[in-house]
Amino acid sequence: MTALEKHLDERDLARSLRADVREGLTGTPKRLPPKWFYDARGSLLFEDITRLPEYYPTRTERAILEANADRIAGITDAKTLVELGSGSSEKTRLLLDAMLRRGTLGAFVPLDVSESALLSAVASLTDAYPGLSITGVVGDLTRHLRHLPDGDNRVVAFLGGTIGNLVPDERAAFLGDLRAALHPGEWLLLGADQVKDPGVLVPAYDDAAGITAEFNRNVLHVINRELRADFDPLAFAHVARWDPDHEWIEMRLRSTRDQQVHIRDLNLTVPFTTGEELRTEISAKFRRAGLTAELAASGFALRHWWTDPRDWFGVALAQAV
Ligand code: SAH
Ligand code: TRP
Repeated sequence: MTALEKHLDERDLARSLRADVREGLTGTPKRLPPKWFYDARGSLLFEDITRLPEYYPTRTERAILEANADRIAGITDAKTLVELGSGSSEKTRLLLDAMLRRGTLGAFVPLDVSESALLSAVASLTDAYPGLSITGVVGDLTRHLRHLPDGDNRVVAFLGGTIGNLVPDERAAFLGDLRAALHPGEWLLLGADQVKDPGVLVPAYDDAAGITAEFNRNVLHVINRELRADFDPLAFAHVARWDPDHEWIEMRLRSTRDQQVHIRDLNLTVPFTTGEELRTEISAKFRRAGLTAELAASGFALRHWWTDPRDWFGVALAQAV
């Protein structure tokens, strides 16, 4: 059984893209919110990133889930698994398999802002799990948590370190909204990338093959197409920098010349000077203690914390209290 629910249609998307681009490109310093990377091409580029030798998070998190999926199923007795920012839901199959072995699971609800990624994930999961009720939700995890299906014994998985793509204020708001959507006793399974040697971190966001650079520039292709703009993506260089004060990787696009960009649908001309940088994304890295405190401040108690042998990535199992 398969269904798709849309909380974002073309009009909502167009309206929020316009607002975000206007606000972000007329502010100082210039910035763009990261959810606009993920059109069909962006979602495919992200899948390529997950297979890069430098990009350790996906395979590290997968190994942690492989080692602990049966315990997670046993502790939570999940009836419904919700996944936020689900993308391809590849690693999530480890959880689905374990929860089905346990015999408690009846429904899977992946939510993503990228309709194309969601549709292809739902199609292949429906083939692989014919007995499971699967409802894909096209939505924004910073806005649509109150539309999560009600239930009991829900487990909400938020994997891939995507929580690190929210700035601290957004993160607190997100955790608060999520807690409000859950009943006491329900679960959050959170994948968080950890603080480590910048010599490991930076290449994960600036790979030798240039896939991450292409992914970063994809946001300019999206604006060109959706808002009839004339960005020359190749006139912007990919920059990934470790910010030791905030403990996050910051992704930017640096203008390689003086240029003016016209965004026809906004009736806006945006000047860039040579070397000027546009911030496109942060990827915050966590420490167990800090994350435990953030979870507690939003009404989640950390019950388990699993890592890999190098202690690079963390998977937290927290319970709504
Ligand atoms: N969970 C997958 C994908 C991570 S990439 C993994 O671990 O590999 C981040 C995913 O979050 C993308 O699929 C992107 O489309 C989605 N995403 C980003 N911002 C979002 C938002 N605001 N609301 C919903 N989904 C979002
Ligand atoms: N959630 C991923 C992360 O923070 C997203 C990501 C990976 C990303 N590489 C990127 C986002 C490059 C922007 C640019 O690891």
